[in-house]
Amino acid sequence: MSNPSILILPGDGIGPEVMAEVRKVITWFGDKRDIQFDVSEDLVGGAAYDAHGTPLHDDTMAKAQAVDAVLLGAVGGPKYDVLDFSVKPERGLLRLRKEMDLFSNLRPAQCFDALADFSSLKKDVVAGLDIMIVRELTSGIYFGEPRGIIEEGNERVGINTQRYTESEIERVARSAFELAMRRDKKLCSMEKANVMESGILWREVVTEVSKDYPEVELSHMYADAGAMQLCRWPKQFDVIVTDNLFGDLLSDAAAMLTGSLGMLPSASLGAPMDNGRPKAMYEPVHGSAPDIAGEGKANPIACILSFAMALRYSFDLGDEATRLESAINTVLEKGVRTADLLGEEGVTPVSTSGMGDAIIVALDESL
Ligand code: NAI
Ligand code: MG
Repeated sequence: MSNPSILILPGDGIGPEVMAEVRKVITWFGDKRDIQFDVSEDLVGGAAYDAHGTPLHDDTMAKAQAVDAVLLGAVGGPKYDVLDFSVKPERGLLRLRKEMDLFSNLRPAQCFDALADFSSLKKDVVAGLDIMIVRELTSGIYFGEPRGIIEEGNERVGINTQRYTESEIERVARSAFELAMRRDKKLCSMEKANVMESGILWREVVTEVSKDYPEVELSHMYADAGAMQLCRWPKQFDVIVTDNLFGDLLSDAAAMLTGSLGMLPSASLGAPMDNGRPKAMYEPVHGSAPDIAGEGKANPIACILSFAMALRYSFDLGDEATRLESAINTVLEKGVRTADLLGEEGVTPVSTSGMGDAIIVALDESL
């Protein structure tokens, strides 16, 4: 059987800098764990525009459709602000998500013990926190018709429509149940069935899907109550599944419980391919950080954690993903910090590559 394949799209700004550190980790797994990947690399975003006049070349799109996992850095930057909307760097990213039909967006909120003091919440509320928000990504109010701004009488009316089909709810629910089966077998579904018909249908379909997963303990919560509970005692949750709009808000809020943008990974999954693996793209939550690009200051951990998610969710290497996450915690416990994680005085930050090297040392120590 051929090796699993990965397409790396470093993109713009700090994208290539953090991706260079992911490369070190991929090489380490090949050398020290004999886990080999067929890795190819291509352009996306502004870098692709500079080379081809488009933020995503058709050839790159075809490669992305064919690999087991896409790893993306970040796209965009001030240099491209003047471009027409149709060729803006973000369009490359949106095209990938749309054509790969990545409907299930996984956003973890995980607290590394060494950074528990960093949170805006009390340490005992976040220490050891490890939850996952599954956000529906391709439907709901951001896409529903009718939409627009119309004239009505003597004023304008802004319209957006929340619309979900049963099959759209079912597939994202299924991916959340599958995830829950690999974790603590606890799933909380959030909507507003008290005031929205789409929420009533959401609750019915999720309940229906739950019959296929009798081991998973399912609960339902109104999304506003869920927001309160996330701030009050987030450790009551394991996996949360919700729609596109609520997921956008809840995942940003939950992620920030645990600290810096430079620490946050994500995965976007689609339907299973012929080999059983889901279509998948992994990327840090942060953007191209033009303010620090080229200075070696970027924190590569968000991108490395995105690769850890690939190990777990595309390649069934959960133990190796845990090894990588533990190595990162070890490094943080030693007090190694990139500039974005500096709280204490008297600590000198390491560079992007310094952080990557420290993680490699900790991986060696894990053997
Ligand atoms: P940003 O996430 O790039 O940066 C926000 C702030 O966080 C900046 O001060 C930056 O220096 C810092 N930061 C971000 N990642 C960091 C890291 N790994 N290590 C240390 N510090 C980090 O968001 P911003 O400034 O709003 O957008 C900059 C560009 O990135 C824009 O062109 C935007 O369109 C694009 N963008 C791209 C995204 C993507 O590719 N998925 C997501 C968000 C923004
Ligand atoms: Mg958001």
